[in-house]
Parts: sequence; C-alpha cells; structure tokens
Amino acid sequence: LKLELSARSNAVKLETLKELLIEEMRDLYSAESQILKALPKMVKAASEPELRNAFAEHLEQTKKHVERLETVFEGLGKKPKRKTCRAMEGIIEEGEEMMKQDAEPSVRDAALIAAAQRVEHYEIAGYGTVIAYAKLLQDGAVELLQQTLNEEKETDQKLTELAERLVNLEAAAL
Ligand SMILES: [Fe+2]
Repeated sequence: LKLELSARSNAVKLETLKELLIEEMRDLYSAESQILKALPKMVKAASEPELRNAFAEHLEQTKKHVERLETVFEGLGKKPKRKTCRAMEGIIEEGEEMMKQDAEPSVRDAALIAAAQRVEHYEIAGYGTVIAYAKLLQDGAVELLQQTLNEEKETDQKLTELAERLVNLEAAAL
C-alpha cells in the first residue's frame, strides 16, 4: 500500500475532467501512432485480397485519425503529446508474435483479423470515453472524434464480415 501511495503521488494530479480528457487523448495519440506503424506489416502479411484492402484502407483512415487528434489537442490549447499506450504495445506485440509463426495463409488471415479486432475494440473504448467527456465539457471536439469512432466501428464490422464470409470458412475447410 505504501508503495502504491508513493507511486501515485509521483504522478501529476488530475484536477478536472478536461485534464483527464487530455490524458486519454494522449493515450489514443500513442495508440494511433503505434497502429500506423503496425498496419503496413499487416497489409503484407494478409493473403486474402479483400483483407489486404481492408487493412490498406484502414491505414489511410488511421493517418486521418492522427491528424484529427492533433486538431483536437490544438482546440484544447495543448501541444499534441503521446503517453505511451502500453495496452496497445501488448496487443500489437501479440499480433506480431502470431505473424512470425508458420501458418497456412487462411489461418494466418483469421489470426490477423483476431489481432486487428482487438486493436479496434481498444480504440472504440477510448474514443467512446473521450467523446463522452467532450460532450460534458461542451467541447467542439465531439464531431471530429465521432468521425473517427464511426470509422473504427465500420472497420470492426468489416473485419467481422470478412471473417464470416471468407477467411474463417477457408481456414475451416483445411
Ligand atoms: Fe484509429
């Protein structure tokens, strides 16, 4: 307990919901930056052309997500700053371990979808949170953040659809 307390006292005290919003934005900014690096590897690793396209399209969207976060930081009067998202580091690391493993192409595609959906769900949770805070604070960021959230949800749904229509069926037929 002593250790916990001293660890806590070292951190900057969060005084307001706006400060918490900025902390959460920094986490997302780190997460998006990590995804930006990981997606080209996923494009290369995917065999199914539709899955490849889905990852390539999401790579382009992710570039916009990073820009939108930068715009929102500016609107809040803050310099865009990352706070290393260790959760995303873990999710991506697990995905990379999977990609290194020898696998049948359709099985690998199924594993790529599993990893990518974990990424999307983390982001959906994060953006849902910052949108809720921005709404309470009546901040103009809501609309931009909502656009990103919609794209994350659409990507998640597209991945489910691809898994159900193609990838998992191919893997199951081996
Ligand atoms: Fe994103």
